[in-house]
Amino acid sequence: MASATSQATDTRNLSPLTQRSVWKALQTHFESVRELHLRELFAQDPSRGERMTVEGAGLFLDYSKNRITDETVKLLVRLAEETGLSNRIEAMFRGEKINVTEKRAVLHIALRAPKGSSILVDGADVVPEVHVVLVKMEAFANRVRSGEWKGHTGKRIRNVINIGIGGSDLGPVMAYEALRHFSDRSLTFRFVSNVDGTDFAEAVQDLDPAETLFIISSKTFTTLETMTNAHSARDWSLAGLGRDEKSVAKHFVAVSTNSAEVTKFGIDTANMFGFWDWVGGRYSMDSAIGLSTMLAIGPENFRAMLDGFHQMDEHFRSAPLERNLPVLLGLLGIWYNNFFGAQTVAVLPYEQYLKRFPAYLQQLTMESNGKHVTLDGAHVDYATGPIYWGEPGTNGQHSFYQLIHQGTNLIPCDFIAFTSTLNPLGRHHDMLIANVFAQTEALAFGKTAEEVRSEGTPDWLVPHRVFEGNRPSNTILADRLTPHTLGKLVALYEHSVFTQGAIWQINSFDQWGVELGKALAQRIIPELESATEPPLKHDSSTNNLIRKYRQSKQKS
Ligand code: F6P
Repeated sequence: MASATSQATDTRNLSPLTQRSVWKALQTHFESVRELHLRELFAQDPSRGERMTVEGAGLFLDYSKNRITDETVKLLVRLAEETGLSNRIEAMFRGEKINVTEKRAVLHIALRAPKGSSILVDGADVVPEVHVVLVKMEAFANRVRSGEWKGHTGKRIRNVINIGIGGSDLGPVMAYEALRHFSDRSLTFRFVSNVDGTDFAEAVQDLDPAETLFIISSKTFTTLETMTNAHSARDWSLAGLGRDEKSVAKHFVAVSTNSAEVTKFGIDTANMFGFWDWVGGRYSMDSAIGLSTMLAIGPENFRAMLDGFHQMDEHFRSAPLERNLPVLLGLLGIWYNNFFGAQTVAVLPYEQYLKRFPAYLQQLTMESNGKHVTLDGAHVDYATGPIYWGEPGTNGQHSFYQLIHQGTNLIPCDFIAFTSTLNPLGRHHDMLIANVFAQTEALAFGKTAEEVRSEGTPDWLVPHRVFEGNRPSNTILADRLTPHTLGKLVALYEHSVFTQGAIWQINSFDQWGVELGKALAQRIIPELESATEPPLKHDSSTNNLIRKYRQSKQKS
């Protein structure tokens, strides 16, 4: 087994990114293409729209409407080669401890590795364990879905509430919404994440405790929000079930890596579904954290989703860099982030079922690549992860697209669309897809002053109606939003995040930046709750806010 400082993961031999000759070549190249307009690029090369496309694992990417030339792609691919991307990919797949600050392997790819394959961590094959948990999840899911699993009073389970936050919530809720079409409609699914009591109160207000199953999902089983909600759930459930402690076994299951804490909470480990420290929270939706997904869509569909993930994993591992979807997506992101200075990326799914996909991607991308030091701890002198945001189309067109079309910020966009719909309804789908294509066309080519004038627009109004165009976008097309496709789509973004992190030489798999706020909140909670006036040692603003809150709490 290779060590954390093996050749593949060792960055000490790499010169700083911005000192590399390929980086400098990209800077020089950027100066020569920055003013080029997509109108010119398409006019010069009529086949550009067919040529700058790539297909991988059944997903189609059209990247022709980007402000790039063939030379840009060549240089970006060279950047990936020279910064050792292929070695880093292999290191991940080999189970090396590439999460160096936490001394952990990064093996979400093992969660979807087919039975019979082998991935070693510290000399032990993890794939059989993955399949043992999958089988346990399947047995449980089948019992709940068939009605064989009964609640404490003998009623069957009708409601499933996942309690978790971050990766223990966003993946499950996104997947549930995305795959609702495939879900068992006789079951109600809800997701509680926020420590704001409203989240829990609203989730249970119309439910019968005798028919409600809670899945407490937490990798650590110590997260403030999740444990607070889990205790409130326990109280609510017990109150509705005659305060019989035995009912917990029928109404609570846990998904965690921490069996000691699960037992302490009162959940029998027989009702616990495990995963491992080599699965990062934001990479865990296809582990046991996906139990709610499996309950909703059934084991067979869940397996199909895992297969979709795996197909994209294989593509990422084996396709040449210049034909590799996640690599190209990642490199284009670097092009805009580091050379054009674009600070955000909009993700625009034209698929209502993907309404929570941008929120899911925010954790995946921003918790992964929002880092200010390299693997060696040196401060970076270049921008790292951009801000991801978005909403489903066409809704966004009637709110924030104005700024994308005519504002002063450059916002590269990822449009995601499906050639067929799960809900054929008259002409809706043609209209939806027409809007995708229209938006990418309008963003790229805009409308010149001459064109506006030729429509009879008075001179004073012309500047307002001009679309400069040259706004870049990717279009990702798939056939239908199935479990299989969702797996591919998520893996596409997981690996594009990996690509960027590898090139930026940062650790995409830790999240130390969330710690300080958590620690400070733990200090402030007793200050808010203390019966006597607490001595406050914060800054004057924080002290004042605490006093104000305490005063109004005392009045109410
Ligand atoms: O606070 C950030 C974080 O650690 C995420 O990385 C993680 O997904 C989330 O909290 C929830 O953690 P857990 O699953 O351990 O409750």
